Amino acid sequence: MAKSKFTTAVLLLVGMLGVVTAQAEEAEQIFNFYCAQCHGVEGKGNGPNVTEDFPVDPRDFTQAEEMEKLSDADIKNVILEGGPIVSKSEMMPPWGKTLSEEQVDALTKYLRKLCNCVGNAD
Ligand code: HEC
Repeated sequence: MAKSKFTTAVLLLVGMLGVVTAQAEEAEQIFNFYCAQCHGVEGKGNGPNVTEDFPVDPRDFTQAEEMEKLSDADIKNVILEGGPIVSKSEMMPPWGKTLSEEQVDALTKYLRKLCNCVGNAD
């Protein structure tokens, strides 16, 4: 009896850890699927979509000094609404109809990991 309770507890713990890693992995997968073709798998703004006639370079997410200028709310806003909402290029598409708010929150955290920075103005 005691043993099976222990087993249940261990299984629960393993299950919970699984959920936490799944969320982190999910952000990376969403990024690679929707964003990397322009922003690059490493976030450097050099994805395969970016040809010579691309009018504006996608943001390089590894440039901490640029990314620090954006608050988390700014990042979320531009992902949901697209470049023009912040007077940036329409080459940055809106994702509000494609991604859920949770996914955009996860992406925002993922971008903070890529820049290894925090927003100055939140
Ligand atoms: C079709 C190409 C393209 C795709 C796909 C794309 N972006 Fe962008 N993104 C851009 C471009 C171009 C800019 C730069 C706009 C500018 O500076 O005017 C940009 C800028 C940004 C910025 C910075 C905005 C700012 O205020 O400086 C963020 C954050 C961003 N993108 C996040 C994302 C995320 C997250 C995804 C995936 C869900 C994504 N982008 C997908 C092209 C793209």
